[in-house]
Amino acid sequence: MSEVKVSSKMDKLVALCKRRGFIFQSSEIYGGINGFWDYGPLGVELKRNLKEAWWYDNVLCPDLGLDNKLVDMVGLDSSIIMNPKAWIASGHVGGFSDPMVDCRETKNRYRADHLKCAELVVMNATESHSLGWLAVVDAEDVESVWKKRAEKLLKKEKREWIPPAHLSSFTELPAAIQKSMIGPDTDKPGTLTEPRLFNLMFKTMIGAVEDASAVAYLRPETAQGIFVNFRNVMDTSRVKIPFGIAQIGKAFRNEVTPRNFTFRSREFEQMEIEFFVHPNQAHDWYRYWTQKRFEWWQSIGISAENLRLRPQTQEELAHYAKEGAGSSDVEYRFPFTDPEFGELEGVAHRSDYDLRQHAEHSGQGDRLKYFEQETGERFFPHVIEPSAGADRGALALLCEAYCDDPNRPSGVVMKFHPRMAPIKAAIFPLVDKEGMPEIARQLHADLRKKWAVQLDVKQNIGKRYARMDEVGTPYCFTIDTQTLQDQTVTIRYRDTLQQERIAIDKVKQFLFDHL
Ligand code: GAP
Repeated sequence: MSEVKVSSKMDKLVALCKRRGFIFQSSEIYGGINGFWDYGPLGVELKRNLKEAWWYDNVLCPDLGLDNKLVDMVGLDSSIIMNPKAWIASGHVGGFSDPMVDCRETKNRYRADHLKCAELVVMNATESHSLGWLAVVDAEDVESVWKKRAEKLLKKEKREWIPPAHLSSFTELPAAIQKSMIGPDTDKPGTLTEPRLFNLMFKTMIGAVEDASAVAYLRPETAQGIFVNFRNVMDTSRVKIPFGIAQIGKAFRNEVTPRNFTFRSREFEQMEIEFFVHPNQAHDWYRYWTQKRFEWWQSIGISAENLRLRPQTQEELAHYAKEGAGSSDVEYRFPFTDPEFGELEGVAHRSDYDLRQHAEHSGQGDRLKYFEQETGERFFPHVIEPSAGADRGALALLCEAYCDDPNRPSGVVMKFHPRMAPIKAAIFPLVDKEGMPEIARQLHADLRKKWAVQLDVKQNIGKRYARMDEVGTPYCFTIDTQTLQDQTVTIRYRDTLQQERIAIDKVKQFLFDHL
């Protein structure tokens, strides 16, 4: 990653995403809507490249599994709205919630565990006095945010104040302190409610009559669509344990505080695998998938130094993973978490929790068990679940690619891995005459059948290179006077700026070899 100041890097990246058509605020002309984002022409290509790479590498052509055997994987595309009973069985109706507090004065709502608090302490010559507690919303530089708020509140205070040694989470504090807290957007103490659990599922109504029987939910994870189809897939695809069912699709969560660009959104896409194994092999497959998924992110251009694999603590484990071998997160050092990391993907041993729950709640019972012909054993398989976010993945790719470079006319270059780059190559005629545009058009027409390439005829060549640097195009081919004589073109490499000539009829092969 570049050397730019961490706090400004995110601002610059967000600005670039808008300027060059990667990501826009949803419904921007109406003032936007918090927690929702749209992908522009380049963003949609970036995210498609990510999802297609995931699908190819995990579903169509996965690495060999344990004992170097082929891994069996099939795909699925299940509906976003499911029978609401599925969400009771999965535990989401009862337990998929975050603690939330409201401010009675401003009507703002916060996630309680995202509020960071400390005591305002002043001192005179001999003793210190508490002036109450102050909360701010967690941010990348939360200590300085808290200090600035404290300075503002204590402006008229003649005594000196003592900066706190550390900030506590609102949820860790006793009720008496919570009750008298000064909230993040008010100067008065005691306006925050006590934390209440808030279910994150979006509700909707099915059909014309809006009563309790019409309530349904937008899925908060794609996983349950896989579990409820376990029997269907077993009956139709001749898969044998161990095998996986993979799905890419939208998920929705009514996050209390969506933030950090697309990192925590209310509508997002997941890339999930439910990998069904014999219970005896669950530990081995859990280790296999955590390692595979950690390596995969590196294979698409995320540097090892910005990535880490972190086992979750017992307290962090989701309800379905409490009994299993554990859960590990693949984490990326986002600019807004730096020096810490943020979750990109979770790999969980869900044991047989989900299949058992659906077997019981649907009345299907043993029909959701797996029958192993060789041994005659009938059992609920255990599940290892690698669950990645496509939007967090795209955001990590953008953060990783962003490099300030004052020596380039663009001032910035996006160093995407060629497989992820939204535009794979650009084709430029040096000038818009002397037969060069015709050759360029011909080359472009030929290459576009296979790759996302762009033809750019206008402006001076430096400006055209700059445009391509800013969107991360790895290769530019220029047709010039020499092309007319010897049928060669210049290839310019984005990262090294090196230029060399290759025969025009070798360009296709070059791209086959490099993409
Ligand atoms: N089926 C398991 C599951 O849903 P999760 O850790 O809640 O697990 C999996 O979500 C992945 O989905 C996360 O690692 C993250 O990449 C992505 N994700 C979760 N909540 C998100 C949100 N509010 N905005 C963007 N991505 C999110």
